[in-house]
Formats: sequence, structure tokens, C-alpha cells
Amino acid sequence: MSDSSEAIALATTQIEQALAEKTKRPTIAGFFDEATFTVSYVVHDPATDEAAIIDSVLDYEAASGRTSYGSADAIIEYVKTNNLKVTWLIETHAHADHLSAAPYLQEKLGGKLAIGSEIIRVQEVFGKLFNAGSDFERDGSQFDHLFKDGERFKVGTLEGIALHVPGHTPADMAFVIGDAAFVGDTIFMPDFGTARADFPGGDARQLFKSIRRLLSLPDDTRLFLCHDYKAPGRDVYAWESTVGQQRRENVHVKDGVTEDEFVEMRTKRDSTLDMPNLIMPSVQVNIRGGRLPTPEANGVSYIKIPVNAV
Ligand SMILES: [Fe+2]
Repeated sequence: MSDSSEAIALATTQIEQALAEKTKRPTIAGFFDEATFTVSYVVHDPATDEAAIIDSVLDYEAASGRTSYGSADAIIEYVKTNNLKVTWLIETHAHADHLSAAPYLQEKLGGKLAIGSEIIRVQEVFGKLFNAGSDFERDGSQFDHLFKDGERFKVGTLEGIALHVPGHTPADMAFVIGDAAFVGDTIFMPDFGTARADFPGGDARQLFKSIRRLLSLPDDTRLFLCHDYKAPGRDVYAWESTVGQQRRENVHVKDGVTEDEFVEMRTKRDSTLDMPNLIMPSVQVNIRGGRLPTPEANGVSYIKIPVNAV
């Protein structure tokens, strides 16, 4: 082969690689809700414009019990502006700090509502706590799809893998899509550390194992976090890092931190944390797939607060 044909062959290979890389790399938009410090994501395949919406937020004012749609409508506008076709509405877990807008988004945009299959354990625990009636099914049937650990799925031509990452709750999932991982409440920015593990069914030891599993992904995997609270010395919100950066810098779980060290730190820290402001409304709504409790005879939905039970 002459020099020039070698050069052409090389160039072709490079173009093929570049194209392959391009289709493996989803386009990602993060939407930050400062009221609950939550990041929602729209992730789409640039080749087909198929999209997944991850961890959406329904605005909720606790004092008045009013819901509103500012956060969800911003996502709808982005989806429409970019002509995206929503195929998935994914929850990484039943959040305790905000209500999900997934049913509202599904009504407006379509897509399958999905969460991890262990949600049935969370429904069991909180169904009891809230003394939910027999109309509250504890079988995950409020969702269109329940992801199992290791399950593969597609967003357009992008390959996705669902990973069960318990610890924060028993049902937490992370979703790897192309070169990006949406890690839910496991790790936060390296200067902030990790998610709490003291909710019912939470477990610091499991959380450590789940995080180390995520950190075994390739170093350049982009990690998209579910929350940010800033951190000492940092005055801007941030929600993207990489596996390599977390392994080098995460203040709770960088390489070298042992499981026992982590568990001791996490348990001590969790004992100082207050319950999230919206835990009662969030959990009651989110275990129902983001739907309000069944209205009473007067047509109004009520949120219960168990007194002295948590
Ligand atoms: Fe959470």
C-alpha cells in the first residue's frame, strides 16, 4: 500500500471512529431547581432525536399545598424547541425532597414512566407509614416499566444500562447512557461528597459498595448528579464530573478510603442532618409514580403527616 492510500485508509478509520463516538455521546441538558437543589436532565441521541427525561421536578409550595409547573414547563419548552421525541421518563429513585413531574410530562410529551424494580420495597415501607388504603398498590404498577439491575435499554441508537445502586434508598438506580452516567443520589460533586443513607431502608455500607461500583466505570465516563448544594469555597452550582475526578478528589469516597471509614463518616454526618422539608409530600406522591393520593369524597387530594412516627 502506498503512503497516500495508507493515509486515506487511516483518515477513513478516524472518521468512522469519530462517527461512532459521536453517536455514543448523548446530548445532555441539565435543569437546576434551586428550591430543592435538584437537577433534572434531558438526554437525547443526536442521531435520532429520541430522548429520556430523568428526575423531573413538580413545583410544590408546602405552606399552601399548591403544585405548579414552572420547572416542568421549562423542560417541555426545551424538548419542543429541539424537536425531541421523548421515549423514557426515568426516576433514579422515589425522591424525598421533591415531587416528580413525570405524569404531567408524560401527558404532554409521551414516553414510558420507569423506576427500579425494588420500588416495591419502598412502597411497602411507606405504604405502612402513611397507612395507605388498599387502593394503593404496592407492586410498582404505577410505573410503565421497572428496571432490573444490568438491564439494557435504548435511547434512540444509544445503548443504556440500568444499575441497581442501593444505599440512599433500597431502590436507587443509576443509568449509563452512552458515555454518560446518571447516578441519582449516590455521589455528589467531589467537594461535597455523597448522599445520605439514613432514610428508611437506607444503608451506608451498601451505599459505599454502590459508589465503588459506579467508580469502576471508565475514568472518562461523564457523571451527572442528582443534586448540588454548593460546597465550602464554591459559590456556583455544579452537577457534572467524571469517574476519574471522583476517584481522585471526592472528599468522602476517593480512592484509598475504606468501607469502614466511609460508614463511620456517613453515619456520624447523617445523625446531624434534618429531614428534608418536603419529605412527607414527596414520598407520598413519588411512591405513586408522581400522582397525588386518590381524592377524597369532596374531590380534593390530601397529603398526610404521620405524627411522632419517623
Ligand atoms: Fe434522594
